[in-house]
Amino acid sequence: MPLGDFAVKNSELRIDGERLMIRINTLADISPIEGGGNCRLALTDDDRDGRDLVVSWMRDCDLEVSIDAIGNIIGIWNVGTGAPVMSGSHIDTVRTGGRFDGCYGVLAGLEVIETCQKAGIAPRRPLAVGIFTDEEGARFAPDMLGSLVYVGGLALEEAQDTIAIDGARLGDELMRIGYLGTTPCPGLIPHAFVELHIEQGPRLEANNVRIGAVTSVQGISWLEVTVTGQSNHAGTTPMSLRHDPAYVAAEITVFVRKLANEIGGNQVCTVGKIDLFPNLTNVVPARATLTLDVRNTDESILQHAESRIKDFLVEIGKSEGVTIAKRELARFEPVNFDHRVIDCIEKIALAQGNTVQRMPSGAGHDAQMLARVCPSGMIFVPSVKGISHNPAEFTDTDDLVAGANILLQTMLSLTTMETN
Ligand code: GLV
Ligand code: MN
Ligand code: MN
Repeated sequence: MPLGDFAVKNSELRIDGERLMIRINTLADISPIEGGGNCRLALTDDDRDGRDLVVSWMRDCDLEVSIDAIGNIIGIWNVGTGAPVMSGSHIDTVRTGGRFDGCYGVLAGLEVIETCQKAGIAPRRPLAVGIFTDEEGARFAPDMLGSLVYVGGLALEEAQDTIAIDGARLGDELMRIGYLGTTPCPGLIPHAFVELHIEQGPRLEANNVRIGAVTSVQGISWLEVTVTGQSNHAGTTPMSLRHDPAYVAAEITVFVRKLANEIGGNQVCTVGKIDLFPNLTNVVPARATLTLDVRNTDESILQHAESRIKDFLVEIGKSEGVTIAKRELARFEPVNFDHRVIDCIEKIALAQGNTVQRMPSGAGHDAQMLARVCPSGMIFVPSVKGISHNPAEFTDTDDLVAGANILLQTMLSLTTMETN
């Protein structure tokens, strides 16, 4: 895609890195946890405090702020005409999250707008920045729930009825924290959407490359598995008479690890959560509930992994004399981003003197939902040691600033992109 006269004319424009870092660190001061990260599970009081802070910054920039019925917040700078070029991400975190995952993209989007405003530039289209509800899916499944509703992929009522891991109803929590808005869902369709994010994996650092032009997001399959056995006395029950859900949970964990290794390529499988009941030292548990997170960039291989897991669950249920129930928590096919947006990101990154590689995303992102309704893409910057969903998550300031400058030029460029 040609970058367009407008972007070329403003190609020397740069964001204010210090202002961006102050905002990232100020947001991280809400709900800090040991090790420098954050716990801001979706729609908790901490999430509300984070939202309040970022909304106040949006208002300081004279953005028109709307809140929809699933709590997505969209700030629009009403310049130019037509549908906005939108950026955005999320500010909810996992329980042991870092300070950059999602927050960086939201605050860089705001920084792009403020940079244009301060430079007296009037883009041809409005620029917008979105904060999407519950991207992490850590409290309410599925992940990317807010952006999924935004694009009409999940009915609002169904989403509002989602029950959290702590038993709360999503709609009630939205109301409680003051973010049950009135703007209808599905929301305004952007002209184009671009999300800036830390990579959260090791590839850019390993390749000594600064920028990832993201081509796709891998497919995601989340399953909750409940194993029900026979609770009994740990001291008196012979091993041969046990129907032990903890043992079965361990076998499932080992199976999916071996399966991922056997399939190879970019297949990943994770058991991230195991709950035992009654969870006592001297009781063979009655029940184990565990979650499986299975991902692949190739839909057919992902389906193969799912079917192998399903077969294993039947087999082990029979051999151990336990019942196994399954509940799908999330299922998204792999998503390809728009080639014009990918080209644009790559060109701009190179023009600004960066090393660039095209790459798929291992993590799920709001941009994969927006891709259903408008040309979309993503920019990655390196994650030190590839660590994320961990308070130790870190990206060098120079890389954060470089990524935001590419976001700036990409958004300006996309204001002049023709779509059909
Ligand atoms: C979102 O962070 C995910 O699970 O990929
Ligand atoms: Mn994220
Ligand atoms: Mn995340």
